[in-house]
This record gives sequence, C-alpha cells and structure tokens, in this order.
Amino acid sequence: VHWQPTDIDREAHARLKNQTPKVLWFTGLSGAGKSTIANEVEKRLNLMNRHTFLLDGDNVRHGLNKDLGFTEADRIENIRRVGEVSKLMVDAGLIVLTAFISPFRAERQMVRAMLPDDEFIEIYVDTPLEVAEARDVKGLYKKARSGELKNFTGIDSPYEPPIDPEIRVNTAEMAATEAADYIVRKLMPLK
Ligand code: PPS
Repeated sequence: VHWQPTDIDREAHARLKNQTPKVLWFTGLSGAGKSTIANEVEKRLNLMNRHTFLLDGDNVRHGLNKDLGFTEADRIENIRRVGEVSKLMVDAGLIVLTAFISPFRAERQMVRAMLPDDEFIEIYVDTPLEVAEARDVKGLYKKARSGELKNFTGIDSPYEPPIDPEIRVNTAEMAATEAADYIVRKLMPLK
C-alpha cells in the first residue's frame, strides 16, 4: 500500500475553515463528567464559529467500535481507532473533542505522537473515584462492586492518570459549566 498524496491537503482544509485544527482529548473515570464537559466546551466553540466534532465513547461504541468490549486489548484497539479517526478529522480541518475513559497512558501517548506537537491537548477530568461512584449515574459502579460487571475501570481494571496534562479540571470542585468555561479560557487565544 502506497500513501497517495492529495492536492487539497490539511493546510488547505484548515485555511478554508480559518482555524488551527487540534484534538481536545478528555480522559477520566466513568462518570467523571467527560461527556458533559466536552459537550459544554463544544457549545462554546460553536458559538465562537469554530468547526468542531465531538467523538463520545458511548456513541462510538454503538457504531465504529461496536465489536469491542472492555478487556485491555479491546480498550487499546478502541483508542487506536479513535486516534486514527481524530487524526483524519484534524486533517479535514476540524477541532475534535474526544470523550473516552482512555485509561492507559501508553495509548494516550500513542495518539499524541500521531499529531504535530501543539495539536493534542490532554484534558484530565480529575474526579475522585469516591465522587464518581457516589454519583453512579448509570448504576455501573453498583454492578461492578457486586461482581455483575467485570473489568470496570477504577474497580477491577486500572486507570492511569495523566502525569502532565495540558489542562486539569476537578469536577468535585466545580460544575460542568464552570469547568467548560475554565477549559475554553485555557485554550485562548484559540486560532
Ligand atoms: S475506554 O476504556 O476508553 O475504552 O472506554 P470508553 O470507550 O470511553 O467507554 C466507557 C463507557 O462504557 C461504559 N462501560 C464501561 N466503562 C468502564 N469499564 C467497563 N467495564 C464498562 N462497561 C461499560 C460506561 O458507560 C462508560 O461511559 P462513561 O461516559 O465513561 O461513564
């Protein structure tokens, strides 16, 4: 297989959209607030006339990744595919937001390495396990604790927190809307 160059390249796509494409990679435990905050950030960027797309773990697992479960190998493949899709979307000129647990440092690093230096922004939705578990919006922690659900992140499957994320928000200390405002401020000036 040979790489086929195209005349309308990533720079041409970005120029037309008048923005610097990038990936805003949200990571954190189940129930940390990744989807809610990413959604709030996307709304703010949309109001700023930015061309965006939000890839959400639950949604992507309904389609592209419906063949994958939650074993270590499947989670690695999940993030590899999402990384490749994000890269294509960045090439298309978009600001991509992703909301996946993405529990392993190595895979987050792998996605970072797929992109130019300043085009991967890691956003750690740093919600303590106790807080996520107390919320238990989907009732999954309860099932994990009772053993009904295996390989659950934070219970019997590991989560490796980012060591030096570009942005960190603690949702035990701020509401989702406040976290989104904070993230957008941190992204400024957004070209
Ligand atoms: S991963 O680890 O990045 O591949 O996970 P992701 O694609 O983000 O999917 C996480 C959502 O799947 C639901 N779910 C589970 N999460 C963790 N562990 C197990 N075993 C599991 N089984 C189902 C859960 O609703 C996650 O959604 P969020 O929004 O993170 O709570």
